[in-house]
Amino acid sequence: MPAAVKRLLVVNGPNLNLLGTREPEIYGTTTLAEVEAMVREHAARMGCEVTCFQSNSEGALVDFLQREAPGSSGIVLNPAAFTHYSYALYDCLKALRIPVVEVHLSNLHARAERERFRSRSVTAPAAAGVITGLGPKGYLLAMEYLLDRDE
Ligand code: DQA
Repeated sequence: MPAAVKRLLVVNGPNLNLLGTREPEIYGTTTLAEVEAMVREHAARMGCEVTCFQSNSEGALVDFLQREAPGSSGIVLNPAAFTHYSYALYDCLKALRIPVVEVHLSNLHARAERERFRSRSVTAPAAAGVITGLGPKGYLLAMEYLLDRDE
């Protein structure tokens, strides 16, 4: 029997809908629609399905993950500012038992020199790993990891 087609979720948190115009010196000029188009193209190249979602609301993110994660084989998550304080997202990721890669467009460690709150991710301990500072390419690398990982 042919192996089932894998499905990934690519989830973005608050203010990432403003990519393109939001602090372009930090986040670049690529819009969220363009990032999602890159993600879809990459999924097609790798022969997997992908569902993209963005919300500014913590509850909507939790609802989406609870609903969509069963039946998916991995989650690429940029929790945006929720990274730094959302125990609700942390608990959700722990409950789902599906591999997660946390992605940040900017380098949190470099930014933490000026903004100390960025040095801590409360969601990262629930992730398999974190990619930070590689721009939109981080999403594609995370997808590759989730499709290649053993299990
Ligand atoms: C971000 C980094 C977070 O600190 C910030 O709150 C964001 C975006 C990133 O992708 O670099 O909104 O997650």
